[in-house]
Order: sequence, then C-alpha cells, then structure tokens
Amino acid sequence: MEENIKPPVIDLSKLNDEERDQTMALIDDACQNWGFFELLNHGIPYDLMDNIERMTKEHYKKFMEQKFKEMLRSKGLDTLETEVEDIDWESTFFLHHLPQTNLYDIPNMSDEYRTAMKDFGKRLENLTEELLDLLCENLRLEKGYLKKVFRGTKGPTFGTKVSNYPPCPNPEMIKGLRAHTDAGGLILLFQDDKVSGLQLLKDGDWVDVPPLKHSIVINLGDQLEVITNGKYKSVMHRVMTQKEGNRMSIASFYNPGSDAEISPAQSLVDKESEYPSFVFDDYMKLYSGVKFQPKEPRFEAMKNAAVTTDVNPVATEETF
Ligand code: OGA
Ligand code: NI
Repeated sequence: MEENIKPPVIDLSKLNDEERDQTMALIDDACQNWGFFELLNHGIPYDLMDNIERMTKEHYKKFMEQKFKEMLRSKGLDTLETEVEDIDWESTFFLHHLPQTNLYDIPNMSDEYRTAMKDFGKRLENLTEELLDLLCENLRLEKGYLKKVFRGTKGPTFGTKVSNYPPCPNPEMIKGLRAHTDAGGLILLFQDDKVSGLQLLKDGDWVDVPPLKHSIVINLGDQLEVITNGKYKSVMHRVMTQKEGNRMSIASFYNPGSDAEISPAQSLVDKESEYPSFVFDDYMKLYSGVKFQPKEPRFEAMKNAAVTTDVNPVATEETF
C-alpha cells in the first residue's frame, strides 16, 4: 500500500477562469498516468447528492439488507475461514438510462427517490458529454469525436449501478469488488463520504481513493484506451471490505452503443496500432466472462477475433 499519493483532484470551475490551461493539463496528466481523477465543482448540485445518499442508504436498510444477509447464508459466507475469490461482498441494483430507461420497472423505489435518480442521471450524462469534449480537446481530436464514436446507430448506453458494501467480519477473506478494469467509456462514481474502500493500482501499488464529500470520481474504461491508442489508460481498481460501516457507491457507466464501431483514432496512430478494432457488443460478450482478468488478453483476443476460444469465459451477473 502506497500511503502518500492520491489521485488528482480537479476543480472543474477553474475551466472558466485564467487557470483553464493548467486545469486542462491536469486532466490530461490524470488520463495518461492515473486513469482516474476526482472532480469538485462539477455543476451537479450538492443538495441533490445529499438527498440521493440519504435515500440510497434508507433504501438499502429497508429493501436490500435482509436479502444481502440471506445471500450470505445461502452461499455459506456468514463464516469465512478461507479466502473467497469468486464472489464479491456487495449488494447492488442496476438502473438503465440510455438507450431506454428501466427506472419505472424497479420495485420499491419511492417517487422521490426515482425522481432524484432521474435528475441525477441526466446531469451525469451531460457532465460526461462535457468531459468527453475536454478529452477530445486534450487529444487534439475534433470536438464531438468521442461522442460520435460512442453513438453507433442507437446512441450511447448509459446506466447506474447502485451498490452498498456492508460491513464484513473478515475483510482479509473477501473483496467488496474484485480487481478489474471497466469495459466501457467514462465511469462517474458518487461514493460514500465517510466509509472508504476503493483502491486503484498505480505503478504496482494499491492506492486509496479516499472519500471526498461531494466529489465525483471519474475513471476511464477499456474503450478509451483503445480509441486513444493507449495514450490514455483504463486502470485496475478494487473495493476492499471494512469491518465497520456500510459503504455506498453509485457508479454510472457511459458506454458506446451496442453496434458502435471502436478503433484507435487515426490521428493518434503512428504506424500500425497494437490495439484491436471491433464492434462494442462483441467486446462486452467477451468481457462479461473475463471481467476479473487483465485487459491485455482481452485486447489480444479481440485482435484475433477469437472471442470465445482464447480466454475462459465464466458467466457473471449484469455488467456495464
Ligand atoms: C465498478 C466499480 C467501484 C465502487 O462497479 O465497476 O469499480 O466503488 N465500482 O463501487
Ligand atoms: Ni469498476
């Protein structure tokens, strides 16, 4: 564990003043060297975030906690004597925003919670599109390039995974979420303001992404690594379990549409790219079975178009 370093924190309001160039440079450095950054003054109202945090915690207590405890019992996880490496210690549900919302099909959400999540989703979508254009500017790609690539013929896919990582009596035996890189485009995370757990891999060390009230943690998925021809990186991250405290995390995934064609941007390729070109849905079919394995064999498999034979897919639950 590296104690002293932290992912970059970026004040987005500085894009509007004389510190714009410096801020753009910080974002570029974060995308190249961290795959992660934390945003403050991102334009999403802090009181909306406070309400969502409160309602997410209430919802967990009322409708999810019991189910989580039953899952522990049914999977024999209530006593952990040896390390468990194939299950995550998390309670989740999934909201889809684009191309179609499922917000009205989710049971047990109050009208107030649903409305707040809809508002939050729309604001996160706008923030993502703003960030994608900032990335284009830093990459000297034309404005709108990334958005256009992500659009395919049906528009981007955008969804939210609402998670709680309940306290765990034996944190050394199981992860909240095993190490992985995210498959898609940009990920926006609203994490608990008190209970920590998220770590990212930086130069071979696990580094904490500590709680920072009202921040949105941004990270880059595999698709941005491919499109930028490796200039930007998707970075391994994981969630540790804690003895005390229930950690809330609301992760929103802005991904290409299923038929979007992904390839390294021509202007970022010198000779021949090391990265594959593919249709996003084919990548997701592969990813869903090998999420917790390193990304390099995935890229290789896509290059060889040997989608199901090169790696050993194991079916997992819903994945963005
Ligand atoms: C994920 C993820 C982190 C968290 O869902 O892909 O990395 O803190 N989540 O929940
Ligand atoms: Ni992730």
